[in-house]
Amino acid sequence: MYDLEYNFYSIIVLWRVLNSASHSITIDGAAKISFSPLSLISLSPIMAAVAPKLMHAVQYNCYGGGASGLKHVEVPFPTPKKDEVVLKLEAASLNPSDWKIQKGILWPVFPGKLPHIPVNDVSGEVIEAGQGVKKFKEGEKVVALLNYFNGGGLAEYAVASERLTVARPPEVSAAEGAGLPIAGLTALQALTQAANIKLDGTGELKNILVTAASGGVGHYAVQLAKLGNNHVTATCGARNIDLVKSLGADEDAVIHCATGTPWSSFEPNLSAEGKVIDITIGPSALLTLVLNTLTFSKKQLVPLLMNPKAENLEYLVKLVKEGKLKTVIDSRHALANVEDAWGKSIDGHAIGKIIVEP
Ligand SMILES: NC(=O)c1ccc[n+]([C@@H]2O[C@H](COP(=O)([O-])OP(=O)(O)OC[C@H]3O[C@@H](n4cnc5c(N)ncnc54)[C@H](OP(=O)(O)O)[C@@H]3O)[C@@H](O)[C@H]2O)c1
Repeated sequence: MYDLEYNFYSIIVLWRVLNSASHSITIDGAAKISFSPLSLISLSPIMAAVAPKLMHAVQYNCYGGGASGLKHVEVPFPTPKKDEVVLKLEAASLNPSDWKIQKGILWPVFPGKLPHIPVNDVSGEVIEAGQGVKKFKEGEKVVALLNYFNGGGLAEYAVASERLTVARPPEVSAAEGAGLPIAGLTALQALTQAANIKLDGTGELKNILVTAASGGVGHYAVQLAKLGNNHVTATCGARNIDLVKSLGADEDAVIHCATGTPWSSFEPNLSAEGKVIDITIGPSALLTLVLNTLTFSKKQLVPLLMNPKAENLEYLVKLVKEGKLKTVIDSRHALANVEDAWGKSIDGHAIGKIIVEP
C-alpha cells in the first residue's frame, strides 16, 4: 500500500513538472502541486493504473449480529506473501465455526483482528504465486483451507498458504472441493486418528455410531466409515437420542457431531473399550475426560480438534475424484445473498454443506 501511494504522488509531481499549471492542490500534505483541468482529464488512466485494485468482500466489524452483522464492502485486492498464492475464488463452504467466531466464543484468539472477512474453506484458481511457492502456478485449480486468523473466504479473491492448498482435479467441482477442508478433515481424523479405524477394509470391522449424521461433518463421517466396510449407525437431530438409547452395547466408536448429548447417553452403548470421539468439545466433555482418566475407565471420551493437514485433504480430494466420497450440497448461495447462507448455518439443520459462490 505504501509503495502504491508513494508511486501515486511521484507520478503526479512528475506530471506537474512536465505540464503548465493554473491551479494548486495539496494531497495529504505530502506534495503541493499545480494542475490544469485539462491535465487532470489526461491523468485519469495513470491514476487508475496506480490506484489499489478493489474487490467485493463480506466482513463483520464487531462481534455478534448474526447474518445482519455481515457488511458488503470493497476492499483492496489481496497480495501474497512469499509462501502464499492468490486465488480467484469459485466456491466457499460455511462451517459452524464461522458464525461461532463471529459470536466471539473464541475471543481473543480468533478472529485475528476486526474487521474480519470470515470463512476458511475455499476452492479457486491460482492467479498469482508468491516468490517462494513451488507447488502451484497460475491457472491451477485448487482447494484450500485459509488461515484461521485472517479468514478471507467471503470475497472474490483470497490468499492461501501453499502448505494448506491442494490440487483439485477436473472431476471434483469447485463446490464439492470447498466442502471438504474443515468438515472432511474432522470426519477423517475422528475415524482414523482418534478411533483408530482403517478405511481400506484391512482393519478389524467395527460398529460405529455417527450422531448429527446429516450435517457437514456427519455426512462425511458416515461415508468414510462405510469405506472400511464397518457397520455404521447414523442418527440425525435431537429427536433420535431415543434411537441411540435403543442400540445394543456394542458400539466401538461414536463419532459425536451433535451438541448437547451427554456421555451418560452413550456410555451404555459402548463396547468394553469403546470410545466417544467428541468434536463438540465443551466443559462437560472435558470433565468426563478427567473422570474417566482418574477411574482408569476402558471406555473413553476423546475430545478432537481438527488438525489442518494437507496430506489428509489430498486424500479426501482423491476419494471424491474416484467417486468414493461425495460432498452433499445443502444449498448454493451467491455472495451477494450470503446472509441467507449464514442464517441457514446458524439454524443448524443443513443437510451436507452450505456453499457460497462469488
Ligand atoms: N472439533 C473440531 O475440530 C470441529 C470441526 C468441525 C466442526 N465441529 C463442531 O461439530 C459440530 C457439527 O459441525 P457440522 O459442520 O457438522 O455442523 P452442521 O453442518 O451445522 O450440522 C449440524 C447437525 O447437527 C444436528 N443437530 C442440530 N441440532 C441438534 C440437536 N439439538 N441435537 C442433536 N443434533 C442436532 C443437525 O441435524 P438435524 O438437521 O437432523 O437436526 C445437523 O445434522 C458443530 O458444533 C461444530 O462447531 C468441531
